[in-house]
Amino acid sequence: MTERIVLAYSGGLDTSVAIGWIQEATGAEVVAMAVDVGQGGEDLETIRQRALDCGAVEAYVADARDEFAEEYCMRGLKANTLYMDAYPNVSALSRPLIAKHLVAAARQYGAGTVAHGCTGKGNDQVRFEVAITSLAPDLTCIAPVRDLALTREAAIEYAQRNDLPIVTTKNNPFSIDQNVWGRAVETGFLEDIWNGPTKDVYDYTDDPEFPPPADEVTIAFARGIPVAIDGAPVTPLQAIEQLNQRAGAQGIGRIDIVEDRLVGIKSREVYEAPGAMALIAAHRELENITLEREQARFKKLVDQRWTELVYDGQWYSELKDSLDAFIDDSQEHVSGEIRMTLHGGRATVTGRRSDDSLYDFNLATYDEGQSFDQSAARGFIDIYGLSSKQATARNQRRG
Ligand code: ARG
Repeated sequence: MTERIVLAYSGGLDTSVAIGWIQEATGAEVVAMAVDVGQGGEDLETIRQRALDCGAVEAYVADARDEFAEEYCMRGLKANTLYMDAYPNVSALSRPLIAKHLVAAARQYGAGTVAHGCTGKGNDQVRFEVAITSLAPDLTCIAPVRDLALTREAAIEYAQRNDLPIVTTKNNPFSIDQNVWGRAVETGFLEDIWNGPTKDVYDYTDDPEFPPPADEVTIAFARGIPVAIDGAPVTPLQAIEQLNQRAGAQGIGRIDIVEDRLVGIKSREVYEAPGAMALIAAHRELENITLEREQARFKKLVDQRWTELVYDGQWYSELKDSLDAFIDDSQEHVSGEIRMTLHGGRATVTGRRSDDSLYDFNLATYDEGQSFDQSAARGFIDIYGLSSKQATARNQRRG
């Protein structure tokens, strides 16, 4: 039987060419695999047909939008995931899901190798291949751009020569990856890090400098997950989609940073993640009133380590599993409502309420009738400050 290779297929030029390119270079049959993670654009049937027209022997397509939102984006939300305090791991969250479907397709169609369209310079190759090796150590991975000399010029030339049903004029200078959690844009003139992003870089967000009237939204959470918006029940996917629209209209969630890739390169990235950034802001504030202080402080460290692991492609690692257990446990009381004003590029929390709140009005208030015994504070401070007092006395004695 002819060897089979499952290719992660986007429907675009590079992976369309990769179908025939891999067949010619390896003699194997190619099975195309495409998943919908809310990237928008063409429907799965169009993509399936194009894969077959480009020479794939089979096509595996799956609508994974709910799966992505529930099992990947929500884990990111519970971890308030912001790599380098800025990037909500948009691409990094999708790779383990795509890898899972690559493995499923390999099993279904009897393939021993999987392929992806990444270059040899980025994080995504690492994420795919570490995920594959963790899920299915028996599978081999190849990347035609990296391993089989499939350059952009060669791809355009190949598509024209073989009359592939794909637009080959490459007038979009950017490399873009998008899903329901956000959108990542790199390359082109953005590689000069002094160049500001132009309007055409953005798609999920409108210009925050010319916003429509302010939009007030109330998000209800249950155990860290959004369950209703303005009183109407939502699934995780619907919550992200609705906030992409409403926060996107206000220009919320535009990010422009130079980022440390795992492979050692610093790269300039422009992101848009309106729904993700609004949800993270709301979730964080709900944690502020529902997590006990020491648990909250420690969770910050866990969130950061979780975020770096996921950025670095360790989704299916032992440590990530252990951190997930901590994070899930921490969400037990993260239920309640956050009210925010979305306006002019900012999602500002204006109110919070929760049956699980640790905020105690009677303890916090400076009004009459407060229940905090202020006289107890003196003794606490005497003892709390004692070791510093002793050290200072010693330093003065020793000159
Ligand atoms: N630098 C980001 C990351 O590593 C985004 C990469 C997305 N890929 C792209 N073709 N723009 O997660």
